[in-house]
Amino acid sequence: MRLVRVQVPEFRALKDVDITFEPNFYPQVFPLGSLNGGGKSTLLQLIFVLLHCTADEERHPFIANMLDKAIIPEGQTSNILAKFELLEGDKKIELEFTLCNDGYLRELDIDPIFNKEMVSFGIFARQAWLIKSLGKSEEELWEEFYHSIPNESGGDSHPDSEISIGQMESEFEYTIKEREYFQPLIKNIKKSLIAKNQFCITSFYSKQALGLICNFSGSKKDIKEILTSVSKRIFLSAPSTQIYLFLNQNDKQQLFKRKINPIISYRNENYEQAIEKSKGILPNFLTYDVFATDTLVHLIETARNQDFKTLVDTGTNGLTYQKTIEELNALTRDKTVLPLLDDKAAIIGVVFKTPEGTDIYPEDLSHGELKRLSLYVWLKLLIPQDENIILMDEIENGLHLDWQYTIVRDLLDWGKTNQYILATHSYELCTALTPAHVKEIELKPIAQ
Ligand SMILES: Nc1ncnc2c1ncn2[C@@H]1O[C@H](COP(=O)(O)OP(=O)(O)OP(=O)(O)O)[C@@H](O)[C@H]1O
Ligand SMILES: [Mg+2]
Repeated sequence: MRLVRVQVPEFRALKDVDITFEPNFYPQVFPLGSLNGGGKSTLLQLIFVLLHCTADEERHPFIANMLDKAIIPEGQTSNILAKFELLEGDKKIELEFTLCNDGYLRELDIDPIFNKEMVSFGIFARQAWLIKSLGKSEEELWEEFYHSIPNESGGDSHPDSEISIGQMESEFEYTIKEREYFQPLIKNIKKSLIAKNQFCITSFYSKQALGLICNFSGSKKDIKEILTSVSKRIFLSAPSTQIYLFLNQNDKQQLFKRKINPIISYRNENYEQAIEKSKGILPNFLTYDVFATDTLVHLIETARNQDFKTLVDTGTNGLTYQKTIEELNALTRDKTVLPLLDDKAAIIGVVFKTPEGTDIYPEDLSHGELKRLSLYVWLKLLIPQDENIILMDEIENGLHLDWQYTIVRDLLDWGKTNQYILATHSYELCTALTPAHVKEIELKPIAQ
């Protein structure tokens, strides 16, 4: 899959972004430049979140976090967030993501038995709770409702989010009514959207109820398949100290807090923990910092097994092990890689030998060496060898100018079928490509 064009009319620091990544260019490596604060990281994360998270409900909270500050201008009911042109083989895929408010839904052709007030994205956001509520009595629901909302009578709540018992009672009354009509209404809204080739991805609250809608061409079945297939092919890697806009506000703020606060059980204790947790739900997200030694062991084992298979099949030894070791040797400046074997020749670890013969373990390697190694392991082993779209932020950090230049060739060696979009400040990296490969984000004009 290839990302051919991305357009972002306005989102945070981005304004009138329209970038084409020419599918006929070789190599498919595109540096993305701007001044500091120009919006490179914002753009990569917006692309990743919209393309990786839409297909899977479990990932939808990341969309809500990402769009937390997105706005719909006064007097409008919708705002285009981003348009994508993708290529899957020869098939062109066009997706347009629009943020909408309740006004947008109320302009649809909805059955008049539902009065306008009922028609809201809020009903989608509460849908899971409403479905569960169907088998419960009003008393049971009130108990649940009372304990689930932060309120003035206690609980672990932020003072700004407290609501009074009176407000809770009226919200509860509304919810009970909603329970009676939400299913046919949702069906009706979805039908009206599909008639316009629109698909409601998710809804959330950000001062008001908002919904993310995807415009597409083709059938409803097509759009689900397309979003699922795109979500598998898009990857993001970035430093662990990067601000990830798709984390929730509390988790982002952890990066700026001294660790003296008492631990609040339901929250992540620190930023790293929040990032680690998000990786559990976002399988295509990587931070550069670490790799597990056992993945290296696995890589060498796989190469050895491959050679053994070649021997069984053809009677001659394969060369995969030798090639893998050569690639690993080239990752550090001067060290050679040796597998550690137990007495039954099982691989139990990996050691790097200096030219003087000193044993170096992964934990002794330099920052730049580790970064290169972690990228190698990721591209070579952890992601499918396929036509992926790989978004990489601050790729040159920690690398000497020579390695900044060679990283382009490295990426192609380690995952040659991928497309790479690299947010960077590195002149050396750009000189490894033609000037036409280098894409620029213009600074957003300062509002008068
Ligand atoms: N809601 C907002 N509206 C407009 N601009 C915003 C908003 N929130 C953050 N910004 C600006 O967006 C910029 C952050 O952009 P981003 O991190 O994407 O830049 P970058 O190009 O990656 O920079 P660097 O090269 O320093 O990493 C900051 O300058 C910040 O002030
Ligand atoms: Mg950045």
